[in-house]
Amino acid sequence: MHSPKVEQVEQVEQVEAPDQEAAIQRNPHTDFAAVETKRPLYEVHQSLNITKTPNPSWQPGDGASNQDWKSQKSVSIDPYEEGRGPWLNYKLLTSATVPRPIALASTVSADGKTANLAPFSFWQCAAVDPPMYSISFTGRAVNDTLANLLATKEMCISMTSDWLIEAANFASVNAPRHVSEWRLAGLTPKASDLVQPAHVAESPYSVECKLHSVQDFYAKTDPTVRTSTMVVVEVVRFHVWDDALSDDRATADMAKLRPVFRAGGIMYGPCSDAFELPRPAAFRELRVDEAVQSLIAEESSE
Ligand SMILES: Cc1cc2nc3c(=O)[nH]c(=O)nc-3n(C[C@H](O)[C@H](O)[C@H](O)COP(=O)(O)O)c2cc1C
Repeated sequence: MHSPKVEQVEQVEQVEAPDQEAAIQRNPHTDFAAVETKRPLYEVHQSLNITKTPNPSWQPGDGASNQDWKSQKSVSIDPYEEGRGPWLNYKLLTSATVPRPIALASTVSADGKTANLAPFSFWQCAAVDPPMYSISFTGRAVNDTLANLLATKEMCISMTSDWLIEAANFASVNAPRHVSEWRLAGLTPKASDLVQPAHVAESPYSVECKLHSVQDFYAKTDPTVRTSTMVVVEVVRFHVWDDALSDDRATADMAKLRPVFRAGGIMYGPCSDAFELPRPAAFRELRVDEAVQSLIAEESSE
């Protein structure tokens, strides 16, 4: 088990938290307010717009649904090429790895005095039995969420629905360690069953978690500098709103969750369009299909 990095935690214990936004240049607009004024209002989607798949006539071996890829020129990038700082890799990773769900992570400080809340989009399912999530902390300084999690081994994660996105974004403010983001974001802490941190009452899906494992990552150019930490947390309790949960308590309804995804820069979006695509039949059934048989024959003759 990973031991908490006490020195690093103390290093960032300060009243004025650092502002890294200037270096990242995440916002592409010189005057965001002016651009935003010209945009249409956000449309609330109470139901999913379910369409056909992009290519309903796709057959085994058909590959991509169009030939555009043939005229594309691919640019190869060495992540450490001359003049390329880590922020450029961060921007490329986050703009190309889309959509990403957004976790509202809640923790409590080691002394139990401050309840912390912050959004994280490096969040994914990591295992099923036991149910696990991974979250990655990408800042060089150990942020409050990570420091609290390492110290207390407990966290809650609440998913970000569209009615929560402005509050979730504001909870990312680099508030000093003793300032709780719950009130700043205006969200309501709901007491958890098995862990000390509360979860977000306004979120339709929350999980109570215990720390399972920690993996630190170090700068390639200076292996003494920790640059990111990925944690794996085990879900010990699910909380799902009744109207978003199927009768067998196994499936959450995306139309009711109304999740917001994060893309690159300052871009977000709703998950309101969908299509359904059945998995291929078992191979033993498929191999009698003529098209599949000829593809297998082609491959074995190569
Ligand atoms: C939507 C969104 C997603 C974010 N995702 C991450 C992430 O995955 N990893 C990370 O280290 N920081 C992420 N951040 C930045 C943290 O939320 C931010 O650094 C915050 O101040 C950390 O708070 P804390 O010090 O209270 O833990 C994200 C910010 C926003 C607005």
